[in-house]
Amino acid sequence: MFKPRGPLSVLFSLALFLSVPMSASLMAQPPGNMDLTLPEGDGKRLVESACFSCHTMVNIARSAGYDSAEEWQEVFGTMIDIADEQAHTIGEYLAEHYPADPSRAPTLVDGDFEIDIIEWQVPTLGQRSRDPIEAPDGSIWWTGMWASLIGRLDPETGEMQEYRLPPAARPHSIVPDEDGNIWYTGNSNNTIGMLEPETGLITEYRTEARDPHTMAWHPNGNLYFTSQGAGMLGRLDPETGELDEVDTEPRPYGIKVAQNGTVYIAYNGTNKIGAMDPETMEVRYFSIAEPQTRIRRLDIASDGTIWYVNSTMGRIGHLDPRSGEYQEWESPSGPDSHPYALAVIDGVVWYNESGMRPDALVRFEPESETFQSWAIPSGVGIVRNMWVTEDDNLLIHQSSTNKVGLVVIPKEE
Ligand code: HEC
Repeated sequence: MFKPRGPLSVLFSLALFLSVPMSASLMAQPPGNMDLTLPEGDGKRLVESACFSCHTMVNIARSAGYDSAEEWQEVFGTMIDIADEQAHTIGEYLAEHYPADPSRAPTLVDGDFEIDIIEWQVPTLGQRSRDPIEAPDGSIWWTGMWASLIGRLDPETGEMQEYRLPPAARPHSIVPDEDGNIWYTGNSNNTIGMLEPETGLITEYRTEARDPHTMAWHPNGNLYFTSQGAGMLGRLDPETGELDEVDTEPRPYGIKVAQNGTVYIAYNGTNKIGAMDPETMEVRYFSIAEPQTRIRRLDIASDGTIWYVNSTMGRIGHLDPRSGEYQEWESPSGPDSHPYALAVIDGVVWYNESGMRPDALVRFEPESETFQSWAIPSGVGIVRNMWVTEDDNLLIHQSSTNKVGLVVIPKEE
């Protein structure tokens, strides 16, 4: 029934329980001037007990805020299921002390292009859904990092299933293989794992890097991955289970494979983009803009040039790796817009402004250098990674409110 895929593989039973994730090191750090004491009031004790099992005060204090109890309940109702009476008391309390703060509203740019955004709410609340992908059979998969699960969605019927992973895995992102298996990065148990959907069985490959992050398949059959905290890059041969890992610059993040086989890496800890030779794993670095520049994600256009988000500076950029020259454009919502995920579809650049509430989806047409943007309908959360489907549509998500989304993009005639 089960064939080990390599010398390092371990089989896990499926009888895993769902633990409420909690790790101080993974929680958001408060900005220096933020008041992190809960004001006195009826809801205070309830907030402490209902909300702080998953995250701290920071997520509440720096949220966009809401004027009504109902709006507050709608937002936290996607994270935790509580009795109506308690939810209402919490809602009233939060609306009084954390009303709407419009300072983070995006600057939306009108335009002629029309898209449809469909969103689904995933079953397990508080899982922090992210990084949706499309499998060869057209199903959509996502990871629920904080609940250590992987989910499958049938976009035709809306039906969903969740597969439990080892509780310590906390998968960061996933990629499908040709057979429909789903590979995940075990961000908290230093593994690359593979789920066989037909049997539910899981194979794990132990990595030296402590926190595998994002992966990409290479035409040579290997899986390449970043490990942000460890500052490492890795290569897994799925046939033999052999792993090669090398040190790199701080906080390697997004990773993509170019048509010529070069593996490009975005760095969230330095102002660089890396180009890795897939054989030697040697990395050539391109320095980008100011030293404060941090690049979370990038994608590669069909001409081999690189589009990237300059997250810290609120810009997007375009690098020609042949010359090392690059050009940047300010994102419509400005320096605090924090562009995060990015994908290139048919020469057009799509990304989100994750610093804004609602989170905005932006379309940038390089030819005319024009922007158009939309508020993501649920809008509370962050798109942390995007995936282009076979039909050239876009998969997105909102990780705070546990949504997975499909952006239907009309095709040019
Ligand atoms: C089961 C886990 C869980 C519980 C319980 C929970 N949350 Fe959350 N919440 C999350 C996750 C996951 C995020 C996203 C955090 C991140 O991405 O760093 C989040 C983010 C938030 C945000 C930020 C939203 C944004 O703008 O992105 C707010 C506000 C929030 N939570 C409020 C609450 C309140 C109020 C409660 C209690 C009534 C609560 N949460 C309970 C999981 C939970």
